[in-house]
Amino acid sequence: QDDIFKNVISHAKEYGYIFPSSEIYDGLSAVYDYAQNGVELKRNIREYWWKFMVQMHENIVGIDASIFMHPTTWKASGHVDAFNDPLIDNKDSKKRYRADVLIEDYCEKLHQKAQKEIEKAKKRFGESFDEEQFINTNPRVVEYYSRKKEIMERMAKGLDSGNLADVKALIEELEIADPETGSKNWTEVRQFNLMFGTKLGASADSAMDLYLRPETAQGIFVNFLNVQKTGRMKIPFGIAQTGKAFRNEIVARQFIFRMREFEQMEMQFFVKPGEEMKYYRYWKDNRLKWHLSLGLGEENYRYHDHEKLAHYANAATDIEFNFPFGFKELEGIHSRTDFDLKAHEKFSGKKLQFFDSETNSSYVPYVVETSVGLDRLFLAVFSKSLQEEILEDGSTRTVLKLPAVLAPTKATILPLVKKDGLPELAQEIIEELKWDFNVAYDEKDAVGRRYRRADALGTPFCITVDHQSLEDKTVTIRHRDSMKQDRVAIADLSKIIDQEVAM
Ligand code: GAP
Repeated sequence: QDDIFKNVISHAKEYGYIFPSSEIYDGLSAVYDYAQNGVELKRNIREYWWKFMVQMHENIVGIDASIFMHPTTWKASGHVDAFNDPLIDNKDSKKRYRADVLIEDYCEKLHQKAQKEIEKAKKRFGESFDEEQFINTNPRVVEYYSRKKEIMERMAKGLDSGNLADVKALIEELEIADPETGSKNWTEVRQFNLMFGTKLGASADSAMDLYLRPETAQGIFVNFLNVQKTGRMKIPFGIAQTGKAFRNEIVARQFIFRMREFEQMEMQFFVKPGEEMKYYRYWKDNRLKWHLSLGLGEENYRYHDHEKLAHYANAATDIEFNFPFGFKELEGIHSRTDFDLKAHEKFSGKKLQFFDSETNSSYVPYVVETSVGLDRLFLAVFSKSLQEEILEDGSTRTVLKLPAVLAPTKATILPLVKKDGLPELAQEIIEELKWDFNVAYDEKDAVGRRYRRADALGTPFCITVDHQSLEDKTVTIRHRDSMKQDRVAIADLSKIIDQEVAM
């Protein structure tokens, strides 16, 4: 698993997808730059999300709120008081960890042990296997799951009540060791606020303390009434936005999975109180379907329903993805009640209510939120797409099987040789196609090597111009995944590409 992950990181760099930030100064921890191909993939993912969430839903509109917000926003939202991570240091290694992550990792191992037992039994019993019954009756599986539940509950209790000594005691009792050095010599657990602070204004005495937003959602809540009124929106309706968020993450060793500056794609769906569970179920189902539409494999997703809920939520689930380091949260779907709007009413003194003309009364809507990290989605897509294949002749090829709709470059145009007018015809084809697709030109090296380069970049099509092309205006088109080649008319290229890459 470690090797696969290392391979993902080095491929991302070598093929111009992701660079460490300010690398000439040895980089900045948990901060990354999107390179020439990465920026296109990221843009396509964002667009794929936007198209589905905004364009395809008549009752969802988008906004683009500022990163800076009035500081009271973060008092109201609870971030100033409660957006904390419980940290613990190892006294020997001087390494710092999130206490909750150490405990969750321990629980994940219990989960995996249970899964192994289930898989073994599945193989043994074949068709007649009743998974649910096995989970409920097999003593080992029952023990793993009940142990996991008990530990998670004890941790939640300690964190919620502020009894951080209990969290430390739990770590000691479970004999959790420093994952890097094996040492079990821990400090106390303490809370650390994740928001980045900055200042607005020039002079020291008049400057105002601000925060870089830790989530985009609050920009939607504070604009709720503006959008509802000017857009003449009727409940239920949604407001979507994509944009940067900032968190001073302490444990940040997982490439773009957990960054200090990242991008969220969030949608708040405003509903009538009492109808939230209906929409919660709708969005839970709907968002998973959207992920599955990318074709990365159903087996790589699972729900994780929260047993422990944040104080403002009455239901919450994560869609988890099978990253190179195991199943981890990709997207959150939260039923947030009227907590946020009510809090903003209280702190601002302004009413944030929907006037229902049918009943002639006003109410504060409930909110169901979908929140996905764009960078995490990028990592999910990129890591699952990167594959090594053994070909019939025994050689291996590295191919980035990105969903064609998301690929940065849709086709590479290659003249078979650099003479006889072939480069000129290739350029003519580019002139035609570039209005609709991102296309590239490549004339360096033998054709076979150029194909491999396009495979590693994730380009779905290679179009080769040869001598026959000059005579009959046809070219060969090679498909990245099957490596099949067809002879087609130049005039049909646009249609053929469009069939596969259209959103
Ligand atoms: N408004 C709700 C909210 O922000 P969250 O679970 O804290 O909820 C939502 O974050 C999503 O944002 C996560 O599921 C994850 O995909 C992404 N995310 C959160 N922190 C991140 C980080 N440090 N780096 C990259 N993505 C992050």
